[in-house]
Amino acid sequence: MKIIAIANQKGGVGKTTTATNLAACLAQRGSRVLLLDMDPQGNASSSLGYRAAEGQSLYRVLIGYDTLAGKVLPTRFPTLSLIPASMELAGCEVELVRSENHLTRLRDVLQPLKALNQFDFLIIDCPPSLGVLMTSAIAAADGLLIPIQCEYFGLEGLARIVDIHDQIAASGVNPHVSLEGILMTMYDGRTSHSRSVVAEVRRVFENLVYQTVIPRSIAVAESQSYEKALIEYDTNGRATQAYRALAEEFLNRQLPQGDTQAA
Ligand SMILES: Nc1ncnc2c1ncn2[C@@H]1O[C@H](COP(=O)(O)OP(=O)(O)OP(=O)(O)O)[C@@H](O)[C@H]1O
Ligand SMILES: [Mg+2]
Repeated sequence: MKIIAIANQKGGVGKTTTATNLAACLAQRGSRVLLLDMDPQGNASSSLGYRAAEGQSLYRVLIGYDTLAGKVLPTRFPTLSLIPASMELAGCEVELVRSENHLTRLRDVLQPLKALNQFDFLIIDCPPSLGVLMTSAIAAADGLLIPIQCEYFGLEGLARIVDIHDQIAASGVNPHVSLEGILMTMYDGRTSHSRSVVAEVRRVFENLVYQTVIPRSIAVAESQSYEKALIEYDTNGRATQAYRALAEEFLNRQLPQGDTQAA
């Protein structure tokens, strides 16, 4: 099981949209995926039709009062499971930091899931803050996927999150966390602004940037208001096709160089 944290301390850049739709597209292709909602806002959970219920999130497990049993819920997609969020998770920022091993607590809690080999991917949707929820997700992850919005303010945020990754990797807390990829979101091909931001990020980060770029599309907000993944709501829309292409590109990156996976 490979753990992917989807993070950027900047708000509203498409983390949750990417976490839910990448998870759904991977599941549709047959991967066994667990989506972990670590944002107290619970947007990833509600995107799939789950109301944040007290006691259902990872909060009590993280503070040592509960076990993982019963926390993993099925979804409408046969191979996609979910650990939903609840507002309680916000308490981690206060309570978890009191414990000595707070940065590695999430990794320890997820260890049994890794050992069971029940899932191919565990995708973590992180909240937009530099707190313990996000840092412990990166400390637990094998790869960090960073969505950034195609605008200039996005570039500043990108440098910061890459720094956080480098610090966590260098500190010894999680030396093997890699930069899985950078995903450009909310692209508007009609503006030279969007095009020049993509060009600049590619110039600096080269092949780390996914070839797939997610276009701005009203279907994204609509699908979320209907609590559906894009592949359920807008089967052949532009954003849907982009997330399908992202899933394919993501899977190809998992293969040894030279091999490609059929669409
Ligand atoms: N490709 C897109 N086209 C149009 N709107 C989008 C797109 N991606 C995301 N959005 C919208 O932008 C807003 C922010 O997206 P999302 O919730 O995925 O970002 P986030 O980084 O998870 O935000 P937060 O930091 O608050 O957790 C949402 O209203 C969503 O519907
Ligand atoms: Mg979010």
